[in-house]
Amino acid sequence: MELTKDEQQMLDGKHGNAAKKSMEILVALGEIYGAKNMIPVSSVQVAGVSYHNLGDAGLEYLEDLSKDGKVRVLTTLNPAGMDLEDWRKLGISEDFAKKQLLVVNAFAKMGIIPSCTCTPYFVGNLPHFSEHIAWSESSAVCFANSVLGARTNREGGPSALAAALTGKTPNYGMHLDENRQPQVLVKVKPKLKTIPDFGELGYAIGKKVGNKIPLILGVKAANIEQLKSFCASIATYGGTALFHIKGITPERAKKPAGGEPVEITAADLEEARKAMTDEGDPDFVSLGCPHASLNELKRIAELLKGKKVAVETWIAVARPVKELADKAGYSKIIEDSGAKLACDTCMVVAPLKGRFKCMATDSAKACFYGRGTNNFKVKIGTAEQCIKAAVTGKWS
Ligand code: F3S
Repeated sequence: MELTKDEQQMLDGKHGNAAKKSMEILVALGEIYGAKNMIPVSSVQVAGVSYHNLGDAGLEYLEDLSKDGKVRVLTTLNPAGMDLEDWRKLGISEDFAKKQLLVVNAFAKMGIIPSCTCTPYFVGNLPHFSEHIAWSESSAVCFANSVLGARTNREGGPSALAAALTGKTPNYGMHLDENRQPQVLVKVKPKLKTIPDFGELGYAIGKKVGNKIPLILGVKAANIEQLKSFCASIATYGGTALFHIKGITPERAKKPAGGEPVEITAADLEEARKAMTDEGDPDFVSLGCPHASLNELKRIAELLKGKKVAVETWIAVARPVKELADKAGYSKIIEDSGAKLACDTCMVVAPLKGRFKCMATDSAKACFYGRGTNNFKVKIGTAEQCIKAAVTGKWS
């Protein structure tokens, strides 16, 4: 790879150990993927924050980097394994909390904003069209590339952190025009209304086209909550880092998608819904995957007003969004019902294995990881259905 003087100096260790290690990671990646050079990035989102996933080896790695590592660009963090301020209310142990705080402190020491959310675009990390960035967290990557039109590969935690500590990323993949063109045409027949409809669409398209970049026709409208749900779902069930929806996403194709179009019917969505619906009533209800918007909190507050939940209920949310909800009066209504606003964390990255048997959610992504990571049975439904189940303890 061709390196600039500054990049070479980082690689030679002239800017310290953390920058050297980071540049080594980026050069190795660049060589694997055939990048000719590095490009500057202006925004980073670092995943791999939960102590549950990192363990002591991950914590040691971060503490070592934090000795002399300092981020060069705006960098935010993915959710941690607990609410950083009010972890006791979520049933997190003292030992776990101690380690989790050490992890977050190591990131903060490097100058990373401990935002602990998978919706950085709701809390001030909002790249613009065609901006080069380095994000990890598959749903946020898909949102950045597709909805915002920014450019990022699907980074892992270490490569995103390396980009933050150097301000650079290897120039390959999603950073190049030629790799952002649609590879398959998808025609959506049914009308979509709810957030789970979009999650089911992500499931259906992901299963049919895998990680190919789809150009999607037939989706007439989508709000930001539906798009964030779709991004999380298509990235989970298919693996793509980018999609285009005609009339909705901003990037225009430079060449047409080739091959036979793929059709998505009402039966495909029904099959997706069935695949994400196990037997039994939920003993855990969890909304906010990806982290809830202010609008979602408003709706949840309306649904919970004057009621009490019968089962453990979490709404995962970025702390600054919760603080706005406090001011708007939504948080009080939600918390008066017994439901918990889980800041900085979520139902997947918190250590919940063995605590619950069946989770109800409006998120297709949460269904996948709830099953895979926490061994939960799952049920997908609208926020209305989920809150009804939270209040009655019954799924209907
Ligand atoms: Fe975010 Fe956790 Fe879902 S990190 S996308 S709420 S699995």
